[in-house]
Amino acid sequence: MNYKKLYIETLGCAMNVRDSEHMIAELNKKEPYELTEKLDDADLIIINTCSVREKPVSKLFSEIGVFKKYKKASAKIGVTGCTASHLGKDIIKRAPSVDFVLGARNVSKLSKVIDVRHSVEVDIDHDDSTYAFGEYRTNPFKAMVNISMGCDKSCTYCIVPATRGDEVSIPSDLILNEIKKAVDRGAKEIMLLGQNVNNYGKYFTSEQQKCNFTQLLQKISAIEGLERIRFTSPHPLHMDDEFLEEFASNPKICKQIHVPLQSGSTSLLKEMKRGYSKAWFLNRCEKIRRLSPEATISTDIIVGFPNESDEDFEDTMDVLNQVRFEQLFSFKYSARPHTTAATYENQISNEIASARLTKLQARHTEIIDEIMDAQMDKTHKVYFDELKPNGRVSGRSDDGKLFFVEGSEDLLGKIVPVLVTKTSRGALHGVLS
Ligand code: SAH
Ligand code: SF4
Ligand code: F3S
Repeated sequence: MNYKKLYIETLGCAMNVRDSEHMIAELNKKEPYELTEKLDDADLIIINTCSVREKPVSKLFSEIGVFKKYKKASAKIGVTGCTASHLGKDIIKRAPSVDFVLGARNVSKLSKVIDVRHSVEVDIDHDDSTYAFGEYRTNPFKAMVNISMGCDKSCTYCIVPATRGDEVSIPSDLILNEIKKAVDRGAKEIMLLGQNVNNYGKYFTSEQQKCNFTQLLQKISAIEGLERIRFTSPHPLHMDDEFLEEFASNPKICKQIHVPLQSGSTSLLKEMKRGYSKAWFLNRCEKIRRLSPEATISTDIIVGFPNESDEDFEDTMDVLNQVRFEQLFSFKYSARPHTTAATYENQISNEIASARLTKLQARHTEIIDEIMDAQMDKTHKVYFDELKPNGRVSGRSDDGKLFFVEGSEDLLGKIVPVLVTKTSRGALHGVLS
C-alpha cells in the first residue's frame, strides 16, 4: 500500500517527544502515514517547536524557508508545540507557507486543523478530551506517559506556563490503564512526564479520588510485568521526606533523579521565584545520597540570570562541587516574552554569561570524568532497548547510565548484568556477565 509520508522534527523536552507520538497516532486514526526522513518525500511536514530559549525560536523561520524550498508542491507544513502556543497566528503572518498552527495543549486537534488552511488552535484550556494519548510509540520497550499537563509555578524566567497553561493532573485510572497497555505491548520501563511530577494530585478538572505522587508511584509499581519507573521533572520544593523515602525503598523506581537547581544562590532563587533556598536544595540532595547511595542526581542550571553577581555564581559552583551531579544541563539565561525576568534591569552581558557557563561546564566535565572512570570493572543491570549500527545494542542501567555492548536484537527488551570494560564521558562499554 502507498502510504502518505510524514516528516516530523521534534525540538524541546520529553513532553514534546510524547506530543509528537500523540500527533502521529491522531493522524493514523484518519489515514495511515509512514515516517520519512526525506523532506522532499513528505506529504506533511510538522515542526514540533520549543520556546524555552530564544535561539530555536529565531531558527524556526529560517527553517520554514528551507522546508518551503525543498518540499513537494502539494506538501503541507504545520508548526506545533510551545512556539506555536506563544506566537499563534503571527507565525502565519510571518510565514504564509505555514498551513496550520497547533499549540502544545492542542495536539489532539491535529486531524481537525490539517485540512483547514491557515487554521490556528492555541487555547490553553482544560479540555479533558486531550487526556487520552494515542497508541503510537517510537520505542515499544519503554513508554512515556503524561501524568499532568501545564505548570502552576511562575518561575520568573520561564515561558512554559504561558505555552502549556495551568497545571492539571490526569486521573490515575487513565494513567494506570495507559501503562498496563504499554506493558502488554512489551514495555518493561516507563517514564512519567510532567513539568512538576511531584506536585501530582493538586488539581483535577473533575471529582477525583485524592492521590498524590507518592501514592501514584505505589499504584504504578503494583503493575505486573512493569520493572522500571522513571519520572521527569520533579521540583525540589515538593521533595518531601515521604516522597524521598518512597524513591529510596521502592525497588521498581530507578535510582536516577533530576533535581533542577537553576541557581545555587538563595537570593537569586528568590528572584527566580523557585520557592526554595540553597540550604533546602543541599538538604534534599544530602537526603537522597543518604537514603539511596547508588542513585545518580542530574540537574538544570541557568547562568547569567539578571543581577547574578560573581558571589551568586560561586554559590552555584559550590552546589555543583558539593552534590557532584552525574548529569548537568546548563544554559545561559535567555529573556523570554510573557516572563517577568525579561523586564528586570541589570541583564547580564553575554560575555560574562558565556564565561560562567564555560567555567561551570569545565568543572562538571572533571567531575563526570571521575565518576565514569570509577565505573571500570563494575557490573550494572542494563535494560537493552535499541539496536545500533555495527552489531551493537544500547541500553541503560537502573541509575540511567548509557551502555553499549556487542550483540543482536535478541537482547532487546531484556535486563541483563553487564561488566564495564571501557569507560568514556558519555557512555560505558561492557560485556554480558
Ligand atoms: N519544569 C522544569 C523545567 C522545564 S524547562 C523545572 O522546573 O525544572 C527546562 C529547563 O530549561 C529549566 O529547568 C531551565 O533550566 C531552562 N530554562 C527555562 N527557561 C529558561 C530561560 N529563560 N533561559 C535559559 N534557560 C531556561
Ligand atoms: Fe518553568 Fe518553573 Fe514551571 Fe519548571 S516549574 S516549567 S521552570 S515555571
Ligand atoms: Fe520547550 Fe515547551 Fe518543553 S518550551 S522545554 S517544549 S514545555
